[in-house]
Amino acid sequence: MKFFVDTAEIEPIRELAATGLLDGVTTNPSLIAKSGRDFMEVTREICGIVDGPVSAEVVALDHATMMKEAEVLRKIADNVCIKVPLTVDGLKTCKALTGEGTMVNVTLCFSANQALLAAKAGASFISPFVGRHDDNGFDGMDLIEDIRLIYDNYNFATEILVASVRHTTHVLQAAKIGADVMTAPPKVIHDLFKHVLTDKGIEGFLADWAKTGQSIL
Ligand code: G3P
Repeated sequence: MKFFVDTAEIEPIRELAATGLLDGVTTNPSLIAKSGRDFMEVTREICGIVDGPVSAEVVALDHATMMKEAEVLRKIADNVCIKVPLTVDGLKTCKALTGEGTMVNVTLCFSANQALLAAKAGASFISPFVGRHDDNGFDGMDLIEDIRLIYDNYNFATEILVASVRHTTHVLQAAKIGADVMTAPPKVIHDLFKHVLTDKGIEGFLADWAKTGQSIL
């Protein structure tokens, strides 16, 4: 499963990129606002750190203006992936852009039928929001299972990008279902490293090592 980080903050992106774990980055208008940075400038900087897809979202609601915004965004770097909402105009834009060889991430997906539409429109990625699904009394992971089944039934190439990931169990479940990608905030990715027995093991080894009176360097 590919790992994308869901942030527009540069330092966490740099840190995770250095681990070799990072396959891409997702941003959205809320994350850009949170960063306090200029959209173009921060997107350009992120694209220079990560080789994989960097999602940059359009904010227009009509197809013609979405295309104009996408034109500006895709000039930032070759690894920009245009993010469009799951609406009729969003999918028209998806079809047009993928036809021109531009990567497209269709976002704000909350049903398997919506995911089917995005795949038919040629989306590179579909972003089902599991956390927001859970928030509203549904099981976000049921949605991922359904989309996996449908995409496998028809051999759709669209990658399932599990979004709105809130905790490490979401990551585990996404991997068990066979999602192609998950995008999570930096904290969730860092939480994946943690295990109390790893910390305890290090502590024990270091205590015993100290007794030897040796040093490696
Ligand atoms: O990837 C989409 C994500 O940014 C939304 O997450 O936690 O705001 O639902 P959240």
